[in-house]
Amino acid sequence: MLKTENLSFRYNPEQPWLIKKFSFEAENGDIIAVKGSSGSGKTTLLNILCGVIPKTIPGEFEGKISMNKKDISSLLLPEIAPHISLLMQEPENQLFFPTVEQELAFAPENLKITPEKIQERISLALSQLDIEQLRFEETASLSFGQKKLVTLASILTLSPKVYLLDEPAAGISKENIELVKNLIFNLSQHSKIIFVVDHTKDLLEMANLSIDLDKLK
Ligand SMILES: Nc1ncnc2c1ncn2[C@@H]1O[C@H](COP(=O)(O)OP(=O)(O)OP(=O)(O)O)[C@@H](O)[C@H]1O
Ligand SMILES: [Mg+2]
Repeated sequence: MLKTENLSFRYNPEQPWLIKKFSFEAENGDIIAVKGSSGSGKTTLLNILCGVIPKTIPGEFEGKISMNKKDISSLLLPEIAPHISLLMQEPENQLFFPTVEQELAFAPENLKITPEKIQERISLALSQLDIEQLRFEETASLSFGQKKLVTLASILTLSPKVYLLDEPAAGISKENIELVKNLIFNLSQHSKIIFVVDHTKDLLEMANLSIDLDKLK
């Protein structure tokens, strides 16, 4: 369960609150559509939910986030990430390694699991997104949509409880959108909590809850 209590945030204290006294509860298996016009604060909200705001992006922040009743504010980002993982809107900001396989190995290596288990997780994540053929490709040579799928795969290798997906369908083909939809549905069936930002109806209609940032203001 992920719970927020009275979250408020603005980048600059001279500006109005971007998010104001936002309280919300997500139960295991929930798919939450995060809606709102461009600039309404969707990406900002996801950054708050994974602790990046206020831990690395400054601003005025109030409120509390807890996962299974534990306040996340006392945890370091590397402690939060294996439980609450973010798919960034811009995949370039999330790719650090020369090849796809190295990229996918990085996150589970930090979980201190065996090399065999890491290989298993990489293979599973690649096959779930039907991108096994990208395993040995150079990350820099991939298209925007392929980069999105690779960053999504890298989150799958962590197997977190909460997925924060910032426009997972952006730049990807119709067939791949179907794959992403199936993936989100399966994650929900496995009691994961998934927040999805999307500009198309495709993914949003799967959600059982929604947050409309235009209406929160
Ligand atoms: N690091 C930052 N410092 C200052 N202002 C920021 C920062 N990041 C975002 N903003 C501003 O905060 C507002 C919300 O931005 P955010 O990226 O959360 O919106 P969004 O709903 O995700 O938009 P989009 O649909 O275009 O992705 C915008 O006015 C943006 O310019
Ligand atoms: Mg955004």
